[in-house]
Amino acid sequence: MKVGDKHYRSIWVNDETGRVQIIDQRWLPHEFRVVDLVTRADFADAIRDMWVRGAPLIGATAAHAIAEEMKRDPSDANLDEAWEELNATRPTAINLRWALDEMRNLLRPLPESERAEAAHRRALEICDEDVETNRMIGVHGLEIIREIAARKKPGEPVNILTHCNAGWLATVDWGTATSPMYHAVEAGIPIHVWVDETRPRNQGALLTAWEMNSHGIPHHLIVDNAGGHLMQHGAVDMVIVGTDRTTARGDVCNKIGTYLKALAAHDNGVPFYVALPSPTIDWTVQDGIAEIPIEERDGREVTHVQGRLADGTVSDVQISPDGTPGGNPAFDVTPARLVTGLITERGICEASAEGLAGLFPERAGAS
Ligand code: MRU
Repeated sequence: MKVGDKHYRSIWVNDETGRVQIIDQRWLPHEFRVVDLVTRADFADAIRDMWVRGAPLIGATAAHAIAEEMKRDPSDANLDEAWEELNATRPTAINLRWALDEMRNLLRPLPESERAEAAHRRALEICDEDVETNRMIGVHGLEIIREIAARKKPGEPVNILTHCNAGWLATVDWGTATSPMYHAVEAGIPIHVWVDETRPRNQGALLTAWEMNSHGIPHHLIVDNAGGHLMQHGAVDMVIVGTDRTTARGDVCNKIGTYLKALAAHDNGVPFYVALPSPTIDWTVQDGIAEIPIEERDGREVTHVQGRLADGTVSDVQISPDGTPGGNPAFDVTPARLVTGLITERGICEASAEGLAGLFPERAGAS
């Protein structure tokens, strides 16, 4: 997507230096900083400390990390060590393990002399595939928005609520939840987006709002507690969120607070859609609540908030009393029964084992 006049992906290889570069998301929207990732520790820190975040982008970053490691030392031992270290950085988004497995399964059978080149090529392909996957999610999701728009008065916007940032910054490009929005705008359908701020890290306020602003999409930033009220008053036509891991039977794990939005949507008859690239499906897991590991992050993310001070510097401020500990589960699980549909790159399906198996027959039944 464009930043100013320039098209950016969220991760790329610099043509001149050959180095992997990312947008360091810790500073947005206040500062736009691009940094190089060079060592294995750089990549691991970038994922763990959320310089990059969002399930698909975490996977793409891990793929590039393996490619860089193979240039340095293409041995089996190094491949396994890198796999372990990177896989331990964040536990919930399955795209991380998916990308690491893709890389290791490709590289293991190859002679060491061929690994660096093959790894580099596959990392670039994973990024390109992510872009195309998200574009197709937009193509399919657009049809849902088009149907809702057709039931509204001419010119009246379709009101879409989204949670966290499942935008282009969370992927390589397009975003998952935002791709249908971009496609709707291109198709001339008026939309308006309710952007949940998404405490504690405020990905909605910092990142989704920045994306909406940059693309000129009408939106309002709302506190996380406002969604239910807006739904009760008919101000939300649909919800679209992303996901970090969706089980084979359609339970959806996503940023903490997603479940509460799904409950409110269900109670108010508001359709609740999940934008789901296929690498985010964990075919080995059925019951999301029992089986998906939920990342527990530092309590300081709850007791402190980052923002820009009057003098322009970006800083943390404490919002709770000294000594009060923060509790910080980073994700929750929305049971499949609360999900209206899954928007995948192959089309839209019911959130159920049958629905997913219908779109991905080659993967159904995997363990
Ligand atoms: O903790 P984050 O910012 O990595 O969480 C991101 C989300 O929860 C997104 O909704 C999810 O990864 C889908 S991104 C297309």
